[in-house]
Amino acid sequence: MPQNQSDGAYVSRETSPVSRAEFSLGSPPDPYVSRETSHWDGAPSVEVSRETTVEEGGATSESGYGVELDTPIARAARAAMSVRGRGEESWPRPDRCRIISVANQKGGVGKTTTTVNIAASLAMHGNRVLVVDLDPQGNASTALGMERSTDSRSIYHCLVEDEELRDLARPVPDIPNLWCVPATIDLAGAEIELVSLVARESRLKRAFAAYDYSDLDYILIDCPPSLGLLTVNAMVACEEVLIPIQCEYYALEGLGQLLRNVELVKSHLNPHLAISTILLTMYDGRTRLAAQVADEVRSHFGDLVLNTMVPRSVRVSEAPSYGQSVMTYDPGSTGAVAYMEAAREIAYRAKAVVGS
Ligand SMILES: Nc1ncnc2c1ncn2[C@@H]1O[C@H](COP(=O)(O)OP(=O)(O)OP(=O)(O)O)[C@@H](O)[C@H]1O
Ligand SMILES: [Mg+2]
Repeated sequence: MPQNQSDGAYVSRETSPVSRAEFSLGSPPDPYVSRETSHWDGAPSVEVSRETTVEEGGATSESGYGVELDTPIARAARAAMSVRGRGEESWPRPDRCRIISVANQKGGVGKTTTTVNIAASLAMHGNRVLVVDLDPQGNASTALGMERSTDSRSIYHCLVEDEELRDLARPVPDIPNLWCVPATIDLAGAEIELVSLVARESRLKRAFAAYDYSDLDYILIDCPPSLGLLTVNAMVACEEVLIPIQCEYYALEGLGQLLRNVELVKSHLNPHLAISTILLTMYDGRTRLAAQVADEVRSHFGDLVLNTMVPRSVRVSEAPSYGQSVMTYDPGSTGAVAYMEAAREIAYRAKAVVGS
């Protein structure tokens, strides 16, 4: 499949979802420095620097709007136009389904928010996407409007009782091309119940093998905040790991453990596993700390880190309580625009990965 030549920023940093050492990048454009320093150089006020965060990770950095238009209304209008315009685009579909685990054992870093909004964005741009909620908290299921009752079937029944995924996947209301296998609280016991089962680390992989997902473009797995058997099942079943990292002081703590676990799974259970993507979440442009964390993550992980950073946004945190992704709840909000840009990067990387 030919690579998308019109989008050099993505293609140039693309090789395959393998270890960072295997990335051959030549000399990719390095938008990071200018983007990140721009918050500090001449940002006229706290409010403006915060609001410009997304736009710089998204479309506005190219739009050439002058300072005189940098008002809240102008920014909202730009964001809305940006989403509207891009909603008509169809993004490339990978040649075969990409299975991506969204994992970080640290709690509250944005795994679920990332899973739901990236999945929604991909689906809204012509990809067929399945979200597998592998967290007993069931937050992704809630955010995608899955109705849950005590007797509803969930991923638990697949992992422990061998039910077929195709019987468990349900369409997500209001978003065509998006399905979800929900989680219920039953899953909390699964870590223990799995221990006594045969091939306990490969239950999800086995379920995928029995499920004809050739029609799907992406499967996104929302992992729980632990490195237990559920997360191991996700890592055995996928080829790519997406790690959301919150832009705060403790963000990098525990990351070493996560990377070691990925290596362990790779060497013993799934040689195809690799960290393909890192997304910086809850970026607060008002704080120097957030910029420092972002710099540090970029210096460690280089081109695995998406150009787009997701800012803190009230709309993002409100959306789940309406059973929605922010993409449908408020598509013009800064959070929605950022997630759409992040998904776009992932989609264009997909094309280069498959084509290479
Ligand atoms: N960009 C954002 N702006 C504002 N709030 C956010 C943003 N991203 C996530 N949140 C909020 O932060 C909280 C944690 O996010 P989320 O549930 O996605 O993290 P998580 O890593 O899945 O958590 P857990 O480890 O418990 O599964 C949620 O209340 C969510 O609404
Ligand atoms: Mg979660």
